[in-house]
Amino acid sequence: MYPRVPDLGSSEIQSWSDPQLFWIIENGVLLSGMPGFRKFNTDDQLWHLVHYIRTLPSHPQQ
Ligand code: HEM
Repeated sequence: MYPRVPDLGSSEIQSWSDPQLFWIIENGVLLSGMPGFRKFNTDDQLWHLVHYIRTLPSHPQQ
């Protein structure tokens, strides 16, 4: 995909606030392959995804 799917464990993504990550998961990323997940998830479930992202380790890009 282009732009590349980001490394969600990277310091760049991890430096964003919980509400910023929530917004991205809720609304998606325009003109990328990232859909918004509002349609499929409750607020509670979206917050679970934010907390899950906080558990991810960083991987070098290939
Ligand atoms: C900071 C930016 C991003 C965050 C926090 C993020 C987070 C997520 C999360 C939490 C999911 C849902 C996983 C699940 O429940 O199965 C997801 C799915 C996905 N994301 Fe992202 N994402 C980001 C950017 C992107 C970008 C830039 C792309 C594409 C270039 C992308 C492509 C996808 C795809 C293809 C899926 C799967 C959709 C499906 O299940 O059909 N993401 N992302």
